[in-house]
Amino acid sequence: MLPQVVATRYVTPLREGGSLPGLMEADDLGTYVVKFHGAGQGRKTLVAEVVAARIARGIGLEVPDLVTVEVDPALAPGEPDQEVQDLLRASGGTNLGVDYLPGALDLDRPADVVDAAWAARVLWFDAYVGNVDRSWRNPNMLLWHGRPHLIDHGAALTFHHSWPGAAGWPSRPYDSKDHALAGLHPDLGAADAAVAHLVDADLLRAAVADVPDGWLDAEPGFDSADAVREAYVRLLIERLDARDAWLTPLLGLVRR
Ligand SMILES: Nc1ncnc2c1ncn2[C@@H]1O[C@H](COP(=O)(O)OP(=O)(O)O)[C@@H](O)[C@H]1O
Ligand SMILES: [Mg+2]
Repeated sequence: MLPQVVATRYVTPLREGGSLPGLMEADDLGTYVVKFHGAGQGRKTLVAEVVAARIARGIGLEVPDLVTVEVDPALAPGEPDQEVQDLLRASGGTNLGVDYLPGALDLDRPADVVDAAWAARVLWFDAYVGNVDRSWRNPNMLLWHGRPHLIDHGAALTFHHSWPGAAGWPSRPYDSKDHALAGLHPDLGAADAAVAHLVDADLLRAAVADVPDGWLDAEPGFDSADAVREAYVRLLIERLDARDAWLTPLLGLVRR
């Protein structure tokens, strides 16, 4: 389970992407980038963030700490921006908080900072979880205390937007064309040897255990939150076993 905090103040919206995350202060005196269940794709985005972040950590990639943030819709009337008011009103209850990294820089010229081995590990990870949201236009990597951190994994695990078609997801190829790190000639074969064995059922079960029941338990076709968790684990194990389908095409990115 993720640590739980209660939001005490809305500070400011972050207008980079479309989902309007908000910077909020909480009762633990922390400051968080809050992703709201009342935004666009809603809870699914939050589930993807939580599961992907745990997998990233499991293979040695840094992500900010996550918490759940209780939001009281009574905070809404105090906000001057109508869009923010609407979002707070629609997001009562449990939302996702990403620990705010003060002073972090958007890593939009990664080639200056990261090495090819790290790039390969990130590309392996994005291909594995099907994250399409790390393009050179929108790298979703932050440099903090001299080290790169990954953020914004809400677009991963796309199968959960349509469970009836999910069986095809494990072997779906990954399009690396626009990936922010594809130009660094990452050696996906070396990355695979370094990290694939770190992903197993224990890690995946721990990842889905972090997801609050309330984001899972109204899923049509499943009779409990745990049944949905098991489906995520099953599909992620199948994708690991189907690496021929999505990893092989990426082996050519390395400079030979
Ligand atoms: N934990 C964080 N610490 C500092 N800045 C962050 C953090 N998370 C996000 N940001 C900033 O907010 C922007 C939007 O956040 P992001 O998670 O990418 O949401 P989205 O793109 O879905 O709106 C990022 O590009 C980054 O500049
Ligand atoms: Mg983003």
